[in-house]
Amino acid sequence: MTYKKSSHNCGELDTGNVGREVTLKGWVDSRRDHGGLTFIDLRDREGITQVVLNPDIDAAAHRKAHEIRNEFVLQITGKVSARPEGTINPNLKTGKIEIYVDELVVLNGCKTTPFQLDETENVSESMRLKYRYLDLRRSEMRKKISDRSRTTRLIRDFFDSRGFLDIETPMLTKSTPEGARDYLVPSRVNPGKFYALPQSPQLFKQLLMAAGFEKYYQIARCFRDEDLRADRQPEFTQVDVEVSFLSAEEIMEFMEELFVIIFKEVKDVELKTPFPRLTWREAMAKYGKDAPDTRFDMLIGDVSDFGAKCGFNVFKSVLEKGGVVRGIASPGCFDYSRKDMDDLIEEVKTYGAKGLAWVKIDEDGKYVSPITKFFTQELLDGIRKRLDAKPLDTMMFLADSENIVCAGLAHIRLLLGKRMGLIDESKNSFVWVVDSPLVEWSPDGKRWVALHHPFTSVRDEDRGLLKENPGAALAKAYDIVLNGTEVGGGSIRIHQRDLQMETFDLLGIGADEANEKFGFLVEALDFGCPPHGGIALGLDRLAMILTGSDSIRDVIAFPKTQKAIDMMTDAPSVVETEQLRELSLKTGVKK
Ligand code: AMO
Ligand code: AMP
Repeated sequence: MTYKKSSHNCGELDTGNVGREVTLKGWVDSRRDHGGLTFIDLRDREGITQVVLNPDIDAAAHRKAHEIRNEFVLQITGKVSARPEGTINPNLKTGKIEIYVDELVVLNGCKTTPFQLDETENVSESMRLKYRYLDLRRSEMRKKISDRSRTTRLIRDFFDSRGFLDIETPMLTKSTPEGARDYLVPSRVNPGKFYALPQSPQLFKQLLMAAGFEKYYQIARCFRDEDLRADRQPEFTQVDVEVSFLSAEEIMEFMEELFVIIFKEVKDVELKTPFPRLTWREAMAKYGKDAPDTRFDMLIGDVSDFGAKCGFNVFKSVLEKGGVVRGIASPGCFDYSRKDMDDLIEEVKTYGAKGLAWVKIDEDGKYVSPITKFFTQELLDGIRKRLDAKPLDTMMFLADSENIVCAGLAHIRLLLGKRMGLIDESKNSFVWVVDSPLVEWSPDGKRWVALHHPFTSVRDEDRGLLKENPGAALAKAYDIVLNGTEVGGGSIRIHQRDLQMETFDLLGIGADEANEKFGFLVEALDFGCPPHGGIALGLDRLAMILTGSDSIRDVIAFPKTQKAIDMMTDAPSVVETEQLRELSLKTGVKK
């Protein structure tokens, strides 16, 4: 084999190179035989170049070409020619030229691939994941992974140019609570003891502030053993940031600058700053969730006051028990049949709702519904005004506890918003959700749990509420939401021991437990820890939205399935008994 250095990549030759002798290496994207000539589209990550094998130039190479199939790896040397008139391909960067091959070397063959690389429609995701290296050869996937890489570089440049230090924190560590289960790693040399993989670098980045580094960032891998969804992976990447002495507002401001740069460079989109701010309560009231999709309106309205005055028992009894009645008006459902409405009812039932009441408004503004008899005209007009409903809209109502009503209507809003084409997919709607509650009551655990994490500070003015009315205390926290996906979250932290201990106490973490789990942090607060705060962005989620993907699996080279399995390597897998013995472990699972 005659090794030659590549002179160019497969995406750069143009008419300016005509007449030059070049060497390219790449994969066979396709092969066509035509009028005695063989045409090969040679592909590498930069693009595709057409190469031509002419039996008159190199009969041996031409013969060899007949054995060549898709995805063979070739080295070709030849002369750049201008394509004849009529054969120019305007869709290809190199579409004006082709290369007449003098020398062809097959660097490697390729078996018939388990799926056609130019086809995705009929290929199952499990097949794509099993042969991920083939899936990643497709230009769509290659673009996603390289856009992610570009994003990462922009992030590094941004923080670097502002004096942030990139500091690594341990992977083998103690539990860092972020609300999920830990992945544990047994310690061979400390039998019966386990490290936890970090759910985030939270504690370490705070300690770096105690250490006086002032501005830290890290592109950090995090591990969370939780139920997976399209926007969740068991291991994922955070753009993790922490600063000393800055206010929440200042942190939000410089993060906005970062988003502006990323969107400009990767998508050529100009974002307007400052991004809108919504309080957590507003988000819940208007959108039913703390990560609102603000690309469209269709806002939820509270109609409890009208509900209390009507004769509809379903509403009245819920209100008497302290629940709420809220509604939403959707266009496009006027012609929905009974069955279509029943299907919507089934949708909300999965969120615990008992039903969905509806009132259609006809062309003339008349109300059409089995429940109009329970309402006066005045009440219906009032409700209609509150929900900003128009003729041919359908108003839908849920009566239940606030949580169920929010979840059910948020679902209906997104479902119908999508179905009715109300979402402008070209929009990039950022919103900061601020002033969230510090804690929420967990009916299962019968205790208060942190909405963010236990290190988030209560607002100064709400400190007294920690004892009196914890549920009403608001946090110095901020989440950044993009098109309805939470792409990041952060807060100003507690930097003084007494507030940290009081917060632990509220969360049911007693002094002994606090000491055992977080003693090192609390101790650091005593040694001149500066006021500090930070944020972490979900890089995978951000890349997912930047690349217009439906799943974060598309922007992760080797992702795991919903069941946390790596289809390619088959991890997790069974290990030898001997290995378990060394770790002083025994599994309870029968073979
Ligand atoms: P939080 O838990 O909100 O905050 O995580 C920050 C961001 O990480 C992303 N994210 C995930 N992405 C993919 N798969 C997952 N399983 C997953 N879990 C979270 C989300 C989320 O907004 N230490 C704090 C940050 C801080 O306070 O500075 C933290 O980890 O986009
Ligand atoms: P019913 O009186 O149970 O026949 O219900 C009349 C209508 O009210 C049906 O459309 C139900 O789906 C709806 N409905 C029942 N319970 C609720 C509820 N908690 N909130 C909103 N609508 C409800």
